[in-house]
Amino acid sequence: MINVCVLSVYCRIKPHPKKWSIEDNCIKGASVQPKTINTFCTKSCFLEVNKEVFCTFALQFFQSLFMETVLSGIRPTGNLHLGNYFGALRNFIEMQNRHNCYFFIADYHSLTTHPTPGDLHGNVRQILVEYLAAGLDPEKSTLYVQSDVPEVLELYLFLNMNAYIGELERCTSFKDKIRQNPQNVNAGLLTYPTLMAADILIHRAVKVPVGKDQEPHLEMARTFANRFNRMYKHEYFPEPQAYNFGKELVKIPGLNGSGKMGKSEGEGNAIYLADEPEAIRKKVMKAVTDSGPTEPNQSKPEAIQNIFQLMKVVSTPDTLAFFEEKYNSCQIRYGDMKKQLAEDMIAFTAPFREKIKEISANNAYVSKAAKMGKEKAQANAATTIKDVREIIGFKPF
Ligand code: TYM
Repeated sequence: MINVCVLSVYCRIKPHPKKWSIEDNCIKGASVQPKTINTFCTKSCFLEVNKEVFCTFALQFFQSLFMETVLSGIRPTGNLHLGNYFGALRNFIEMQNRHNCYFFIADYHSLTTHPTPGDLHGNVRQILVEYLAAGLDPEKSTLYVQSDVPEVLELYLFLNMNAYIGELERCTSFKDKIRQNPQNVNAGLLTYPTLMAADILIHRAVKVPVGKDQEPHLEMARTFANRFNRMYKHEYFPEPQAYNFGKELVKIPGLNGSGKMGKSEGEGNAIYLADEPEAIRKKVMKAVTDSGPTEPNQSKPEAIQNIFQLMKVVSTPDTLAFFEEKYNSCQIRYGDMKKQLAEDMIAFTAPFREKIKEISANNAYVSKAAKMGKEKAQANAATTIKDVREIIGFKPF
């Protein structure tokens, strides 16, 4: 059935691939660009000799034709933690079956903190391994390294021409970063939201699965997309939306009593997917608590609320209800609760831990995944840049 369908489209478009205009090919965020069609037609010639290549390419072609485009990325600044998982990665995995997905490793973004060359490469590889270990499938999603697609930098430059200092300075993440690190206020930090917008717009993505902390960046990406469209009187970029299956965006707290779980929020604050059981036990047992409730049904201070929230994501509803009841009746023993939380986190992360080790040892698979993603991401990005150049008015002599 699928072959008949593939062949009928193949026959229909083969004689006139160039006749498809960009507008014709946009179906609510699902975009097929002329180059994709041309490549599809060229690759279709494999049908006689290599059915497998044909089918893989046909699948990707249909994805880009009918499915909404999704994009997200994670900076390679250390191993992935539970915040990254529940805020972003879990949704990446869920979305890859029904969307045209691009997931990347944001290595350009990580340069704002000046990693050494050795650390940079090792960290990029680690995130790629963890993407694969968590269940991202390079046959279904385009997994790539940001710096493998330098076209994004050209779009970054174009968007920067219409990004104003005032709005960049007002961005909450910029203000947080300069407060945390006043000796490293570089231009990359200031224009971080424009690079992020370029990441999203280069693939004309409409859904961006991210945690709550990224909401202001998505707002700016929409501003930059609309500003470009208005300026050039061309509805080229769609409006990207932060996405969590119609639910509130997620913020997973850390173990230090306040704020979110994060790589830069201090030692012991984050639980990593790759953490060994003993490391998890140590960190959880040190989590900030207090001397306990003094009145029945007392409201929970932030540090305690955080422990309950962490339990909510890794433990069973019965376990959570048990400790809620103990808290409300002032009988809670935080030591017992933390022991239970640590064991539930160990059980939750166990499959990732094993898979991370297995995939990390398989160099050939990791390299193949990166190469496959690079090719597809580059082809799509090159088409966007070609269109954008034309829209802006660059013309060959
Ligand atoms: P990064 O690397 O800080 O985080 C990656 C993803 O994990 C989410 N996240 C969390 N979610 C819930 N609770 C937490 N404690 C938590 N900590 C992290 C983040 O919201 C994010 O979704 N700027 C991005 C990377 C990026 C990007 C993009 C994302 C660059 N270009 C384009 C989307 C689209 C960042 O620094 O994420």
